[in-house]
Amino acid sequence: MASSRWLVAIGTAVLSAVGPALTFAAPPPPPPPPPLTNGTFPDSAGLWSNMVRSNTQTNTPFFQSLGSNGRTCATCHAPADAWTVTPLHAQQRFTATNGTDPLFASLDGTNCPGLKTTTVADRQVASSLLLKKGLIRVALTPPTQSQFSVTSVANPYGCTSTSSVSVYRRILPSANLPFLTTVMWDGRESVTTTSVSTALLQQAKNAILGHAAATATPTAATLQSIVAQELGIFSAQSSDNRAGSLSAGGAKSGVTALSQQSFTPGGNDPLGPSAPTPGVTPNPVFSLFGAWASLAGTSPAAQAQASIARGEKIFNARPMALRGIAGLNDQKDRRGLPLTTVTGTCGACHNAPNVGGNTLGRMFDTGVSRPESQTGDLPVITLRNKTTGAQVQTTDPGLALTTGLWSDVNKFKTPGLRNLAARGPYFHNGSAGSLEAVVNFYNNRFGLNLSTQERADLIAFLASL
Ligand code: HEC
Ligand code: HEC
Repeated sequence: MASSRWLVAIGTAVLSAVGPALTFAAPPPPPPPPPLTNGTFPDSAGLWSNMVRSNTQTNTPFFQSLGSNGRTCATCHAPADAWTVTPLHAQQRFTATNGTDPLFASLDGTNCPGLKTTTVADRQVASSLLLKKGLIRVALTPPTQSQFSVTSVANPYGCTSTSSVSVYRRILPSANLPFLTTVMWDGRESVTTTSVSTALLQQAKNAILGHAAATATPTAATLQSIVAQELGIFSAQSSDNRAGSLSAGGAKSGVTALSQQSFTPGGNDPLGPSAPTPGVTPNPVFSLFGAWASLAGTSPAAQAQASIARGEKIFNARPMALRGIAGLNDQKDRRGLPLTTVTGTCGACHNAPNVGGNTLGRMFDTGVSRPESQTGDLPVITLRNKTTGAQVQTTDPGLALTTGLWSDVNKFKTPGLRNLAARGPYFHNGSAGSLEAVVNFYNNRFGLNLSTQERADLIAFLASL
């Protein structure tokens, strides 16, 4: 450090002594950034692939620092990290930079603003949720006209404000976006619009002003460039360690098929008028591995393929008792009768063909933010209904923080299910550390009664998406 300062001092002295006649050769221009390639990357189950359909440049606004803290969209939506950041990669970035990578900016890359970040050890403690679970702090202010008040926030890291409420969320991938109906875990960017591209433009603006701490509103051209580029990005699992290529032998997984998948907003809705049985989608949600269902081979690869095909069937058809779910059991069926108990499938909520999001943007409380299912590292937020006085405790109130409606407490969007193996931990708060934990969660919560083999099949299927 000292010696480079000396060099600068000497250079300046020489320059002023000799005068303007001396000119230095201009430094060579930096090499152009490498294009985004249709790369293939390892993950816990095998390999996953990217498909960039429109703009393959990396000198675009998505990859540029547009604010004041050095962050780009790709700081958190990293192309080689399934367009999110996994805890393992956050740890690697922490180690490589002693915790100074812009990812860890104290604004929202630490558990609370204002935590001590002087030493490497301080920074490690301050960003513990990001390093352990890949969580980013999101501060949201419920509308003043809310049907509830936030009576207390018990936050283990200190940010206990009841007006700007801190919640902690996984970075959603900025890929496979043409299949979205709701933007953000709590759908807050799509609450006021049914147009996903309008929601994405608004989302990009808020990300630049928020995560990147920009002081000026980005131009319309910048926002349009970001949205056009991100809408052309697809990612999916491409091969499985045991089953091999996921698009071989008649199987139709993999990113090429996904990039050509059609999507109809409102299609295949299991609660709408065209659904024969409420909770059961008119068409199978996933039809990728049917060709593997009749395989009778005994090789390890053939057995792994058959397991994935069985898992797909479980997802599509296994009935379970769905009760006590806000967003489902408080609705009415096509005859106007209440849906107090629904015998439905995974597709009761995840109904988008070969993608798994919800085509109507329905949001549900599946119980993920109940304090009792947590390990004590998330805040406990107490809400009080202003009319009835009822109280509820939650680690994240979800949609209600945006709408102010009591009936929206703990509602989250139904996320798409592609490329899962590359981007755990799962759920908005990263509370499921593996796909096995996800399957166990559903098995317990909805009494699925899966055998050990059926669990393994469902996990193998989810890991092949
Ligand atoms: C500090 C990390 C960070 C940065 C930087 C960041 N994001 Fe995000 N992004 C997140 C998190 C966390 C979420 C989920 C937040 C939530 O749901 O409340 C998210 C959600 C999204 C989503 C929603 C996807 C979906 O399925 O609903 C999109 C799209 C997105 N980001 C695009 C961008 C763009 C474009 C930029 C750059 C302008 C950007 N992000 C910068 C962390 C980041
Ligand atoms: C009642 C609606 C509903 C049903 C039924 C349902 N899900 Fe979900 N699923 C959701 C919602 C909502 C989330 C997001 C929850 C959260 O993070 O708070 C989710 C999240 C997930 C995730 C995590 C995705 C991620 O990116 O973290 C997986 C995997 C998943 N579900 C698989 C399944 C499987 C398998 C079944 C059937 C056994 C199933 N779901 C049944 C609504 C449902």
